[in-house]
Amino acid sequence: MLSQIKDIAVALAPRLIEIRRHLHSHPELSGQEYQTAAYVSGVLSSCGLRVQELVGKTGVVAELAGSGEDLRLLAVRTDMDALPIQERTGLDFASHQPGIMHACGHDVHTTVGLGTAMILSQLSEKLPGTIRFLFQPAEETAQGARWMIRDNVMDKVNAVLGVHVFPTIPGGSVGIRYGALTAAADDLEIVITGESGHGARPHEAIDAIWIASQVITTLQQAISRTHNPLRPVVLTIGQIQGGRAPNVIADQVRLLGTVRSLHPETSAALPNWIDSIVASICQPYGAKYSLNYRRGVPSVQNDPALTQIVESAAEEAWGCDRVEILLEPSLGAEDFSLYLEHAPGTMFRLGVAFPDQPNYPLHHPQFHVNENAIITGVVTMAYSAYKYWFHR
Ligand code: NI
Repeated sequence: MLSQIKDIAVALAPRLIEIRRHLHSHPELSGQEYQTAAYVSGVLSSCGLRVQELVGKTGVVAELAGSGEDLRLLAVRTDMDALPIQERTGLDFASHQPGIMHACGHDVHTTVGLGTAMILSQLSEKLPGTIRFLFQPAEETAQGARWMIRDNVMDKVNAVLGVHVFPTIPGGSVGIRYGALTAAADDLEIVITGESGHGARPHEAIDAIWIASQVITTLQQAISRTHNPLRPVVLTIGQIQGGRAPNVIADQVRLLGTVRSLHPETSAALPNWIDSIVASICQPYGAKYSLNYRRGVPSVQNDPALTQIVESAAEEAWGCDRVEILLEPSLGAEDFSLYLEHAPGTMFRLGVAFPDQPNYPLHHPQFHVNENAIITGVVTMAYSAYKYWFHR
């Protein structure tokens, strides 16, 4: 089966590169993936899959029925949205949309999803069960997975596979991570309300700016003293608003931030912990506060058995030299984790670095991918999907 998958992939390579370049030059923002969805749906229909559009707003779902009698259902998830970034790669197939760019490789992910469908649709007589392809919108805004799940795409799904490109892994290599792959990411808003007054008479006022500065400092210090350093928490206040004049004591300050953590128990405890710190600072000075802690996405926790399937598929396909076991997770976030609340799954990293030119991080206006990675991604996904049916 592996050699058949590889042969078809090699034959399809020029077409896959064409698909990826088309997607790259026609990026669409989160929730607006209309052209992308129509294009994806066209490719899937031409492979004979049953396609459903407008799932999860602008998502596409397609099913490839195998010819066996295994009732387990495998989902393959890829994302389709781009970012509000002005591309500066200078590529001939650079974005045609001013201010919008595929700077996170979702063009490659979509191509991997399509390539997997194109290959396995030619080998469906060898598939024991059905594969459901999920082409998700709005990953960057962490909304798309929710929309898809609300439209029941995870019904009856037994396992889910995903992929994300990675610019620090060589193009054509695969990164495998057991356990936590990405962090839980939550949004934090703290509003501190004091009392306005003359800048020269602080004792007659309640200085919300000074109290806010205590809150920020204490949160940072307390994290290092009260959380297990082997279970990381990152709390970043990225925005502060407050105050009206240099000589007027501010009566209100708004702090906005993001909170990242890896362990589900740590993540669960954070809202109350933050609340207790803020309360303990505001209370002695008579300030009031409100805390709005919004859950974003949980941490992606890769399932060991499924991760093992992808690892062995990649090793058989490419050799151990091109498979890296990743020792560290990322504190980035990925809404793939929401699917994992419904079925076990695993996401692998696809290396897209060039050996001989500068590589830029994800979300950079010069981010570019080594297109050798496309074949690697497609074969790894297709062969992992096939191997899924043979594990127990
Ligand atoms: Ni991404």
